[in-house]
Order: sequence, then C-alpha cells, then structure tokens
Amino acid sequence: MQPPPSEYDERIHLKNGTPVLLRPIRTSDGPLILDIFSKLSPESVFFRFLTHLERLPPEMLYHLVHIDYGKDFALAASIEEKGRESLIAVCRYFDHGEGRAELTIAVRDDYHGQGLGKAMVSRVVGIAKAKGYTRVEIIFDSRNENMKKLFSGLGYPFYYHASILDICDRMEIDLTRKKPDGP
Ligand SMILES: CC(C)(COP(=O)(O)OP(=O)(O)OC[C@H]1O[C@@H](n2cnc3c(N)ncnc32)[C@H](O)[C@@H]1OP(=O)(O)O)[C@@H](O)C(=O)NCCC(=O)NCCS
Repeated sequence: MQPPPSEYDERIHLKNGTPVLLRPIRTSDGPLILDIFSKLSPESVFFRFLTHLERLPPEMLYHLVHIDYGKDFALAASIEEKGRESLIAVCRYFDHGEGRAELTIAVRDDYHGQGLGKAMVSRVVGIAKAKGYTRVEIIFDSRNENMKKLFSGLGYPFYYHASILDICDRMEIDLTRKKPDGP
C-alpha cells in the first residue's frame, strides 16, 4: 500500500475568507473523520453514504483512512478550529476498473456554498486524470441538486444515467474530452 503523497498539499481560501489546507488523508485521521461525521446533518450523511447511518461502523472508518494511493485517493480540507485541527470536507475516488474511478464527497454543512465542494472535486478529478483514469463517476440521490450542478459544471462532457437500483442516479464525466471553455 503506497503512503499519502505530500505533493498534493495546497492552501486555499473559501469565499468567506476561511484559510483551508487541502491534504491527503492519513491513516491517523480516524478521530478527525469521526468528528466531521458527527457534524454532518442527517441529509448530508444520507446523500454521502446513500443510507441512514447514525455512526460510522469501525470497519468503514478503517477503509476511509487506509488508502492505497497507488490506485485510490482521498483529499481532506483541514482548518484550525478552537486551537486544534478539524476536517470540514473529504473528497475521494476509488478504482472501479477499466479506467473508471468513482468519486464521493462530503462537505460539513456549516461550510456549504463556500466553493469548497467545487474546489475539491475539480482537484480530485484532475488527480484521477493525471493518474490515467478516463472516466469519473458519481452515484447520487436524484434529489441532490447541488451535486448534480457541481458535477455537470466541471467542464467535461457528462452523461446522466437515471435510476440505478431504483434509488439513485449515476453521472459520469469523460476525462479524455475536456471542453475548451471549461474551468
Ligand atoms: C454537494 C456538496 C458536495 C456541494 O459542496 P459545496 O461546498 O456546498 O459546493 P460549492 O460551494 O463548491 O458549490 C458548487 C456548486 O453547487 C451549487 N451549490 C452549492 N451549494 C449551493 C446552495 N446552497 N445553493 C445553490 N447552489 C448551490 C452551485 O451551482 C455551485 O456552483 P457555483 O459556485 O459555480 O454557483 C455538499 O452540499 C455536500 O457535501 N453535500 C452532502 C454530501 C453529498 O451530497 N455528496 C455527494 C454524493 S457523494
């Protein structure tokens, strides 16, 4: 298993001026993942995991922090809060085979609408592209208008597949054909 690469560390500012460090997830991030999970609204938990979860099962937490950076990737948004580090978003992809990666993201509710989701998704998609993936897909609740807008606005041709398993939709972008006017 390859360790977290440090070349992806980057400092950005949100629309409200909050300074944020973007960095890969580490195996020691378990307590920070539990903290951000506890601060997500039930709707955000459902939209992220596509199921109702009151707490993160230990085996799920294990997989969220043990990333094989040879094929998968997980980027965290870190801030200093009350004198210590907190995570306010995590965006990841995992290998789905045949050049496809599946992406997920969760932004803490009190930081929605600050440009963080878009900043992280576009970086993580760029990393997937640099690693040789040709398609990135998301599976999402069809009521999730914010994710639909975000993903379709990345500047890549996208394809919409309605009703996977009758509960959620799937969108994929083609990384081989970025629109010339895309961001
Ligand atoms: C979907 C989600 C990631 C968006 O993150 P965010 O940081 O709030 O999004 P951004 O501020 O970067 O906004 C991205 C785009 O989404 C839309 N958007 C986001 N929040 C919005 C809001 N409150 N009202 C209207 N549009 C909104 C806008 O079109 C925006 O693009 P623009 O800034 O160019 O206008 C966030 O709502 C979230 O974490 N939801 C819960 C988990 C989830 O749904 N995950 C997706 C499935 S894995």
